[in-house]
Amino acid sequence: MKIAVLPGDGIGPEVVREALRVLDALNLPGLVLFEGDVGAIAYQRHGHPLPQETLDMARAADAVLFGAVGDPSCDNLERHLRPEQAILGLRAELGLFANLRPATTFTGLEHMSGLRPEIAREIDLLIVRELNGDVYFGDKGIRTRDDGEREGWDMMCYSESEVRRIAHVAFRAARKRGGRLTSVDKANVLETSQVWRDTVIEVGKEYPDVALEHMYVDNAAMQLVKSPGQFDTVVTGNLFGDILSDQASMCVGSIGLLPSASLGERQTEYGAFGLYEPIHGSAPDIAGQGKANPMATILSLAMLLRHSMGREEDAVRVERAVAECLADGVRGGDLGGRATSREIGDSVVSKLLTLS
Ligand code: NAI
Ligand code: MG
Repeated sequence: MKIAVLPGDGIGPEVVREALRVLDALNLPGLVLFEGDVGAIAYQRHGHPLPQETLDMARAADAVLFGAVGDPSCDNLERHLRPEQAILGLRAELGLFANLRPATTFTGLEHMSGLRPEIAREIDLLIVRELNGDVYFGDKGIRTRDDGEREGWDMMCYSESEVRRIAHVAFRAARKRGGRLTSVDKANVLETSQVWRDTVIEVGKEYPDVALEHMYVDNAAMQLVKSPGQFDTVVTGNLFGDILSDQASMCVGSIGLLPSASLGERQTEYGAFGLYEPIHGSAPDIAGQGKANPMATILSLAMLLRHSMGREEDAVRVERAVAECLADGVRGGDLGGRATSREIGDSVVSKLLTLS
């Protein structure tokens, strides 16, 4: 089993280091790690944020563990040379079309949410966002009309096959969770959503054990803050998913706790090929100070164990170790505490060893 480790910029290396210590503590046989440059550091060393050798390394691996990219020193570079292009390039080149973002409120952290604690406490949901289609990838442009006024357009488009593949990922995920799937669209107005909804219903026939419901995106945004406990698994397109997943993540509180997985169609002999990363960025404001909370990356590692290695039990152990550390009061700066990245990594590792 080969894992490509791409720490990237800013706090990326600091949080990835702690996740690797957790991986080490699991003592799994037959693991080979490769480390590659990505982001601003890759631009400095190789002249490109996503060098060919990094891409080749990711392609040859069974899974990718990614830190974060982005550095203020690159703000004036041309768009295609900016560090952020590296993650977009990896998703596109590796065919990663399904973005999984779980959001769960940890015991003891209810008051970190912008929602009332008794509402925040209910949150345990998974957003499955389509990542390779929609208005981001449709025909787009800016033109000047005959009357001299400028107009811009972006075409929203989903084909049945694009919807089908993300729907399968979502139904399978829902089946492993609470058995309920909410498909979010805007079918009262958008033709794209009509194709989306028809296709999700069609795919749903293969998953009679999953309860499927449909919700318009404007209502979903309301329900997410009104009673988020009603959601189990949510599937939606790229644009709606971008907004709703950020909204959901803030409902549970800290950015330093939220993991993500990006999956494609490729299967390896161990599970699904995927890229795993915390949802936060490179946090240049705290980089190099040991202040970053590595828990989001450690929880991303748990997703890697689950989806790319078929090690559900180890994934659950890592998740429990993080949850119990939080319940014990281990707090990084993002949670108003003083624990350093290293100390948080130490706590999770020792907790993990008690859970064996
Ligand atoms: P950010 O997520 O890096 O930071 C936002 C705020 O949260 C900062 O105050 C930061 O200190 C804090 N924070 C983030 N992660 C934390 C952690 N693990 N522990 C404690 N505090 C944490 O977002 P920002 O500042 O908008 O972007 C910084 C750079 O990261 C930019 O270059 C941006 O483009 C890039 N970025 C990269 C992403 C990626 O690699 N996938 C995703 C988001 C942003
Ligand atoms: Mg976003």
